[in-house]
Amino acid sequence: MLVPVILSGGAGTRLWPVSREGHPKPFMRLADGQSLLQKTFLRGARQEGAGEVLTITNRDYYFRSKDEYAALRQREPRQSFLLEPFGRNTAPAILLGAFKVREAYGDDAVMLVLPADHLIADTAGFARHVQHAVAAARQGKLVTFGIVPTAPETGFGYIACGAADGHIRQVRGFVEKPSLEVAQGYLASGDYLWNSGMFCFTAGAALAAFREHCPALFAAGEACWAASRGEGSATTEIDTDSFAGLEDISIDYAIMEKAANVAVVPASFDWSDIGSWNAMSQLVEPDENNNRAIGETITFASHGCYIHGDDRLIAALGVDDLIVVDTPDALLISHKDHTQDVKKVVQKLKTMG
Ligand code: GDD
Ligand code: MG
Repeated sequence: MLVPVILSGGAGTRLWPVSREGHPKPFMRLADGQSLLQKTFLRGARQEGAGEVLTITNRDYYFRSKDEYAALRQREPRQSFLLEPFGRNTAPAILLGAFKVREAYGDDAVMLVLPADHLIADTAGFARHVQHAVAAARQGKLVTFGIVPTAPETGFGYIACGAADGHIRQVRGFVEKPSLEVAQGYLASGDYLWNSGMFCFTAGAALAAFREHCPALFAAGEACWAASRGEGSATTEIDTDSFAGLEDISIDYAIMEKAANVAVVPASFDWSDIGSWNAMSQLVEPDENNNRAIGETITFASHGCYIHGDDRLIAALGVDDLIVVDTPDALLISHKDHTQDVKKVVQKLKTMG
């Protein structure tokens, strides 16, 4: 049994003002009309052997997520949900997901963890790699999908690759979000891949890794699962009080950096993490001046801009490398090298109440 597990978490603060609490990133619609969440659902549902798609998300997004899936008119495979009262990062989400999958299908069920903010166009290529990952997962490996790095990104995890073993490679080390200096060294060495944030492991292997590397989190998670579980129902609401006691930590720091049985499937499919306006802008075709636009725009003597309109006309004159994102009640203007800092605006807004 293969269970794609969709992580549909936070508001995606680097995509403010379009992504925010009331309209989080997974529901953002791309130019073809599909949302990131719908695309992720189809990516999981289409994998060979996928018998159920488990979505782990905030309970406030339950009905909206169901609506998104209903609009796809895809009845198979079965849909299930694990509903969080609040975000606690990816390790608690995946830990409880592993308890749920194990309860339904046993230790050997394979989980394919898919973040809801990725885009992959090459569906056939992706499916081939999933098959390799599933085979390695069945041998007890914690498998990640590795991407050939193109820049010294500090927002990604890095995988030091070891020997090749068929379609997978051993992992010598895993470093989550290194400093710029370290990332530059990794890029130059050619031995490193980006961690895509997609994982494949059996429920049993994931639980064993949590038990070994994060015993306190494992024990608290087990108690939380016991307090949450319904009678084998497709939708489980997580118990708020016990969930609040779980450590806020990502799966990368909790397990992947520590475990010895990590393997990587080097990806030859395209992959993008829609993590910032810069990444978003790459999805739009540029015009002859390298400007990209969504909505009605007029540009003169401007180059390299991304203009994301809502329902107003936007005109840009004599400006280069700007990101402009318009919504009815907030307007973002940023240099394209500063789009990682958009989250600082959101932090500032929170302190302003
Ligand atoms: N359900 C749920 N609950 N989902 C969550 C939560 C949570 O509390 N926190 C995060 N997520 C979801 C996010 O919505 C996203 O889909 C995914 O889990 C990954 O979380 P991010 O916050 O986007 O992680 P990241 O981008 O900083 O880092 C991860 O992804 C990189 C590639 O995009 C790491 O795995 C890195 O190693 C990796 O390179
Ligand atoms: Mg991300």
